Amino acid sequence: MRLLFVGDVVGSMGRDAISTYLPKLKKKYRPQVTIVNGENAAGGRGITEKIYKKILQDGADVVTLGNHAWDNREIFEFISDAKKLVRPANFPEKTTPGQGIVYVKVNAIELAVINLQARVFMVAVDDPFEVIDRLVEEASQRTPHIFIDFHGEATSEKQALAWFLDGRVSAVVGTHTHVQTNDARILPKGTAYLTDVGMTGPYDGILGMEKSAVIDKFRTALPHRFEVVSEGREIISYCVIDTDDKTGHAKKIEAGVINADHPFRD
Ligand code: FE2
Repeated sequence: MRLLFVGDVVGSMGRDAISTYLPKLKKKYRPQVTIVNGENAAGGRGITEKIYKKILQDGADVVTLGNHAWDNREIFEFISDAKKLVRPANFPEKTTPGQGIVYVKVNAIELAVINLQARVFMVAVDDPFEVIDRLVEEASQRTPHIFIDFHGEATSEKQALAWFLDGRVSAVVGTHTHVQTNDARILPKGTAYLTDVGMTGPYDGILGMEKSAVIDKFRTALPHRFEVVSEGREIISYCVIDTDDKTGHAKKIEAGVINADHPFRD
């Protein structure tokens, strides 16, 4: 099975980049399943139903989220009916709407897509290691093909989770930092790993935000309002993972970006 995963879509530029480049990437790589992280898709914070549906229409099979999942209040109105939307699994079970795992069927093979949120330098959520241990156990009853979008800040926490799961899942790919790391690899027991896939949206902002407010915040230590960059050059960040149809183990992982310095090639 081949998976295409596209990193954090930021604002309108990110959405436009998805409309333009997702079809091109799908034509180039011919993935069986396409997953897009959309937690920053609505003005940099959260997602709306219209945007969720548009990302699916542009070619995604599943949309994952992260710590900004709840920032746009509209999510509470549609998440329960959004069958292809995955929010972090390690939120309090009794009080959190939506789902932390979805299954996608491709021909006769099923893929479990799990979204998980890290804890280092982030808000306190339930222990991702304990939750994923349980979820992987549950998913393994159905399929060996398991993809995890681990939304987190700290490299060490992402590495630790990947090693913890080596051989039990097909891939652990990080999101949230908005900067793609150069460490795509397959761990010894067959789990593909990338610390962070990077972002999709403005290329000339700071993590997608207007530079001046971010720079001023660092210089003054005073609160500043961040706005998403709305025009200019764009970046698309992604990775492609091949898994063995029988075992679910990863055979290959390749990370890529499309931007002015690395133009799209067929
Ligand atoms: Fe995030």
